[in-house]
Amino acid sequence: MDAVQGQPLANVRAIDVVDGHPETLPDGALWLLKGITSFERYVYHVEREELLSKQPALKRPEASYAALIPVKKSSEWWQLPHDTRRVIFETRSGHIKTGLKYMPAVARRLHHGYDSEEEFDFLTWFEFAPEHSDAFDELVWTLRQSEEWCYVEREVDIRLIR
Ligand code: HEM
Repeated sequence: MDAVQGQPLANVRAIDVVDGHPETLPDGALWLLKGITSFERYVYHVEREELLSKQPALKRPEASYAALIPVKKSSEWWQLPHDTRRVIFETRSGHIKTGLKYMPAVARRLHHGYDSEEEFDFLTWFEFAPEHSDAFDELVWTLRQSEEWCYVEREVDIRLIR
């Protein structure tokens, strides 16, 4: 699996998304990434309202394309105070503002791994219909040009078809 930045992951033909707490590598698997859903760190009330009104559910039948994008940020990022991170994340990079433009085409779920010292700080998961594939590429491209992404030290972009 090609890395956008940093170390790649070993190539696999398929992935399994498992709820719960798998501790051991299933037979034949080459890697296991773990993360947990958690509370929102940066979203303001007004943004949450807009997200809730626009965001589609996961597992829509027409959303047969998915992307799993594991991300690790640098220690420099984690050492910044929270308010500075919010300024970089939204005021200067427009992460939420940009993402909202792609809703309801793209469904998303964010998993955290930093606190449990996983290989990646975040496992980001997206689902969309084939006709929104170009729009998703544009979204990812836009975020990668942002100041926030200067703090990304490892990123792997895994595209999946159901
Ligand atoms: C589909 C449109 C998107 C929307 C609406 C969106 C929205 C959000 C929101 C609201 C958060 C903050 C959660 C919090 O407050 O803790 C967030 C975090 C994050 N998103 Fe997105 N996002 C989108 C697309 C993407 C894409 C395409 C990527 C990867 C290329 C991505 C990577 C991340 C990462 C790594 C974080 C964690 C940032 C951190 O806590 O430092 N997002 N996103």
